[in-house]
Amino acid sequence: MNDIHESVQDYYGKELKSSDDLKTNACCTLTAPPTYIMEALNKVHDKVQSTYYGCGLTIPLQVEGLRILDLGSGSGRDCYIASQLVGANGSVVGVDMTDEQLKIANDHKAYHADLFGYDNVEFIKGNIESLDELNFEANSFDLIISNCVLNLVNDKQKVLKDIHNLLKPSGEFYFSDVYSDCRIPVDLQNDKVLWGECLSGALYWNDFLNFAKKSGFTDPRAVENKPITIDNKELEEKVGNISFFSVTYRLFKIAELESDCEDYGQAVVYNGTIQGALSAYDLDDHHHFPKGKMMLVCGNTYRMLNDTRFKDHFTFYGSWDTHYGIFEGCGGAMPFNVNGADTEAASCC
Ligand SMILES: C[S@@+](CC[C@H](N)C(=O)[O-])C[C@H]1O[C@@H](n2cnc3c(N)ncnc32)[C@H](O)[C@@H]1O
Repeated sequence: MNDIHESVQDYYGKELKSSDDLKTNACCTLTAPPTYIMEALNKVHDKVQSTYYGCGLTIPLQVEGLRILDLGSGSGRDCYIASQLVGANGSVVGVDMTDEQLKIANDHKAYHADLFGYDNVEFIKGNIESLDELNFEANSFDLIISNCVLNLVNDKQKVLKDIHNLLKPSGEFYFSDVYSDCRIPVDLQNDKVLWGECLSGALYWNDFLNFAKKSGFTDPRAVENKPITIDNKELEEKVGNISFFSVTYRLFKIAELESDCEDYGQAVVYNGTIQGALSAYDLDDHHHFPKGKMMLVCGNTYRMLNDTRFKDHFTFYGSWDTHYGIFEGCGGAMPFNVNGADTEAASCC
């Protein structure tokens, strides 16, 4: 296990000097950021941007005033974006284990504090497989984010359990990572380049869902998924027929969520008040809420909107008095679309 840490530190500390040195497109963000991220990203220092190795968009909407933890924060790009979005009343803590990455992050703290007019970001050296040793209080973060890091750790189940413990009730783990359509063979797991490039440690999607559920995140929701093409002949040959995906998931810490989507005859109307989503709000890849339109929802979706920071932005209808059975459309197939378009109906309602 220490071997993995050393080789990852080596890869992100010494081997890679900037995102141009990556050998595949696994640690690249394949989706153009929405305007609210783009505006904040434009204010992040070039040096920080050039040492970004994330694979997705990890900062959800409606984060003003939140306390955020970024796991594997690297040179700090997402922390400095989040810093602006949470504002002076929020705060951001980044944890990473690689000195060189932390140095870039810390070297640009004063630059960003001057530019934003406040200093609400802190970087801590630490191993996210030992989050329980970092002196964070249980139930103390509103939102935990992570960008292309969980694949690099050995004990993914433990990390998910610790994340669950650190989140406040109704808090959320929102993160992008690399997934595969099968478990990665051991010989590929031992390939340092493939591991460093975020491929060999990829989470087999069904293992991930089971780890998440065992950690207390009963109903994981995919927000976006894209196939990874690798773009390197030699490495493509090594991985053979394994398909990889870059996926953003959101996991709510809501104790009452049920293992399946149950129908209580409930409905919600989006009020159109979330900044950055005034005409429609997407909770995940199969819940699109146009402003003003009444939408039937399962009990879990109702809770994800009613028990969280989204409550004031929706109008809620119905109760828990009558149960009508399973919500139509629940399924258990692989939730990613090999052809590239986002899935609509493969997973639960
Ligand atoms: C693919 S890079 C992503 C960095 C950053 N999230 C970004 O988007 O630029 C992976 C980062 O995770 C860090 N990392 C990997 N395993 C870690 C662990 N067990 N504990 C802390 N940091 C870790 C590495 O040092 C590296 O900075």
